[in-house]
Amino acid sequence: MKRPVAYVAGTGKGVPAKVMTNHDFAALGLETDHNWIVERTGIVERHIARDDETTCTMAAEASREAMAKAGVGPGEIDCIILSTATPDRLLPATAVDLQAEIGATRASAFDISAACSGWIYGMTVAEGLIQSGVVETALVVSAEKMSAIVDWKDRSTCVLFGDGAGAVVLKRNKTAHASNKGILSAFMRSDGTLAELLWRPSGGAKVPFSAGVLDDRSTFLKMAGREVFKHAVRSMSEACDRALDGAKLRGDDIDVLIPHQANVRIIEATAKYANISMDKVYVNVDRYGNTSSASIPIALDEAIVSGRVKEGTTALFVAFGAGFTWGSMVIRF
Ligand code: ACO
Repeated sequence: MKRPVAYVAGTGKGVPAKVMTNHDFAALGLETDHNWIVERTGIVERHIARDDETTCTMAAEASREAMAKAGVGPGEIDCIILSTATPDRLLPATAVDLQAEIGATRASAFDISAACSGWIYGMTVAEGLIQSGVVETALVVSAEKMSAIVDWKDRSTCVLFGDGAGAVVLKRNKTAHASNKGILSAFMRSDGTLAELLWRPSGGAKVPFSAGVLDDRSTFLKMAGREVFKHAVRSMSEACDRALDGAKLRGDDIDVLIPHQANVRIIEATAKYANISMDKVYVNVDRYGNTSSASIPIALDEAIVSGRVKEGTTALFVAFGAGFTWGSMVIRF
């Protein structure tokens, strides 16, 4: 096992106050029902941002909490990496808005676009920057206003998602020789041949916004649910193996599995494959829905606050999302 170069110094979350339950979809004229959604996905409710709550404001709330818990001021952040599928605008990155908002005047700031795997990708890039010596302290934030890109007329997708942000302060492990806490392994993969199974067909440089794309609703998120489900289970299972191998651990050695929260059936299948019993799995998809890349850091923050993750805990993280992208990570706390 490699010596960890970076460790989690603090976490935080920023979640809109407004809660939308499965029953609230009836008011939108959608033919769906609570039991269908719970049986297929495990989702009971999700948080939905107001118009004035943006990807940046949710990210800022999560970041301030993470910095406070880490005992790190904004001037000590060297780099901000913000993963999002819902940037507040296309140029420049939402990370620079966050930098201005929290006053991280010394930091470089950029966005990562890796959909639901964005937190794993962001953490892996941050660890690499710390290892290279360029960065001492990184802020890795995942923030998503999914309510802005789902099609509220499409019952097969809009019921699945929610809004929110999670943040982590990642610091260089200066006592690496004595301490074994930090990132023990990481794994990332992508398969762009499958991009059109989960995508927004228009609204970028190739098919720009126009009255036409608004009419055909092609700027909203489209998903082939069954296909995504199959690939998610297969890829997340592979990713668990790879992170465990990298850390020279087995499923039995893991104290808690914190998977991307898309669907409780995907989570159960992944845990079974990794030989990790469900009592070791952190699940909050019932309360948040799928918050894309924010789901893991929100769950991690909750797991720390509730004592599920504490000093000495070995945690496995695994994610899958549009791209397709997938990845995993083992962290000892
Ligand atoms: N309420 C009621 N009925 C619905 C709803 C709804 N909200 N949505 C779809 N249906 C209907 C369909 O129209 C269809 O009806 P029909 O048989 O008359 O045509 C029926 O339910 C079955 O539809 P399927 O899409 O085949 O349902 P399935 O059992 O596959 O469940 C689901 C759909 C929940 C989307 C599932 O495929 C899934 O979870 N896929 C994974 C997708 C996912 O989690 N993506 C998130 C992004 S990627 C990631 O984060 C991992």
